[in-house]
Amino acid sequence: MMQPINLHDYEMLAQKRLQRPVWDYYQGGSDDEISLRNNRAAFAQLRLRPRVLVDVNNCNTATSVLTRELSMPILVAPTAAHGMAHSKGECETIQGADAVGSGMIVSNDASRSMEEVAKVSQGLRWYQLYIRSQPEARQLVKRAEAAGYQAIVLTVDTPLLSRRERDIRNKMGSFQRIYYPGAFTGNVHNSLNGSIDDDERAAYVGHTLSWDIIAWLRTQTSLPIILKGILTAEDAVLAVQHGVEGIIVSNHGGRQLDGAIAPIEALPEIVAAVDGRCPVYLDGGIRRGTDVLKALALGAQAVMIGRPILWGLAVGGSEGVKHVLQILQQELRSAMVLVGSPTVKHISRSLIQ
Ligand code: FNR
Repeated sequence: MMQPINLHDYEMLAQKRLQRPVWDYYQGGSDDEISLRNNRAAFAQLRLRPRVLVDVNNCNTATSVLTRELSMPILVAPTAAHGMAHSKGECETIQGADAVGSGMIVSNDASRSMEEVAKVSQGLRWYQLYIRSQPEARQLVKRAEAAGYQAIVLTVDTPLLSRRERDIRNKMGSFQRIYYPGAFTGNVHNSLNGSIDDDERAAYVGHTLSWDIIAWLRTQTSLPIILKGILTAEDAVLAVQHGVEGIIVSNHGGRQLDGAIAPIEALPEIVAAVDGRCPVYLDGGIRRGTDVLKALALGAQAVMIGRPILWGLAVGGSEGVKHVLQILQQELRSAMVLVGSPTVKHISRSLIQ
């Protein structure tokens, strides 16, 4: 087998391993996949301004996120249904992340229950919540607290599930129910199980929320609340006014509104609007250490990666996840040396043209 040396190699190897409907589900975006492609293209548009003759002998990627020490400013984004990539699902993924001092946001729609995942991890773990009904969300949040999750990540960009045409053509819903029953229902046992069709699933997955949901969620938990799926300065200001402990700038990996701005394009206005009042994170299209560096330079405190983790998981289980993160960390370190930023704190706006 080819030895993967970068994330693109993992992508190629994962495609060979995964059945077509699973590959398409993991890989795809919505409609014409314009946002999906632009998430990458937008990084390529940014140019770096390297500084030279800086002492970078002890270059170090360590950082801290919500008071937790991490070896790198890179976390695992919440992605659903890891059981379609590996029999042990999210339990395998989080062990890979832990092993390199990263951390994981466990999806509401994971294949394994949050308790099973918690049992095999010691590091940073946050729970990603979809609020589809308040009674269900209340239970999920209580369980997350009891299982030692350290934050709730509320995803707010999914008032409906967008049209993912690859999945429609592949009849992904029926395929998954036959070959991977329970792939999405590790946490939510009763609602997605059984014989619901794709339309019903889409209606269930999408649930309209408004800003007052934050105050409600606050009454349910003392954990920090982080909003995922913010793309404008206006919403970032509202998020701060509603007292959240963090914002994840994200367009859901190009899987929701097609044509939505790339997170890296939205980041500067959001960082300016937030003005240090809460940490800002970013996900979408990160495939290289230089992408991580660009996001940090524009003000992200850390980044999250989605699909590359699924590729690593499919190719090599926890070892694959670990290697994907190690590659990205190594690339980030090289980029930091080459731009003359020996620590994460040194990375500044002036690195971007
Ligand atoms: C996702 N994403 C996602 N987000 C979320 O909040 N809850 C979820 O259950 C999922 N599920 C999911 C499944 C798959 C297969 C993908 C690819 C993505 C979005 C995810 O958290 C993140 O925003 C993107 O994946 C980041 O983009 P990249 O790194 O995949 O380019």
